[in-house]
Amino acid sequence: MHPIRLTDAFAGFTEHWSPRIAAELNGQQVKLAKLLGEFVWHHHEHEDELFLVHSGVMRMQIRDRRGDASSEREVRVGPGELIVIPRGIEHRPCADAEVEVVLFEPASTLNTGNVRNERTVDALGRIETAR
Ligand code: NI
Repeated sequence: MHPIRLTDAFAGFTEHWSPRIAAELNGQQVKLAKLLGEFVWHHHEHEDELFLVHSGVMRMQIRDRRGDASSEREVRVGPGELIVIPRGIEHRPCADAEVEVVLFEPASTLNTGNVRNERTVDALGRIETAR
């Protein structure tokens, strides 16, 4: 057991929208991801997702009613802030400049939720932790 230094862990990879597993507990995973640009609208049928911003400002777009653009709103989440997206809620993370984010969610959670496209990552890499 040793601490994972987030700054070092984020420095270990450069890809955007490609979450890395940093830790696992109780069937949940702690993942690190770098975001840049707009992701795809999606929802997770069975999983709530926690986003904790480490650096940058994430714009989380949310639709209360699926596919209904008129219900769209946006929540800005800055460094040291977190947000939980409940299961079933359609969302789209966006980053105008690079955002480093810690995700906490069940291991079964697919990054693109109900959508499958070129952004979908099935097999996540792992953070190499220093000893
Ligand atoms: Ni999601």
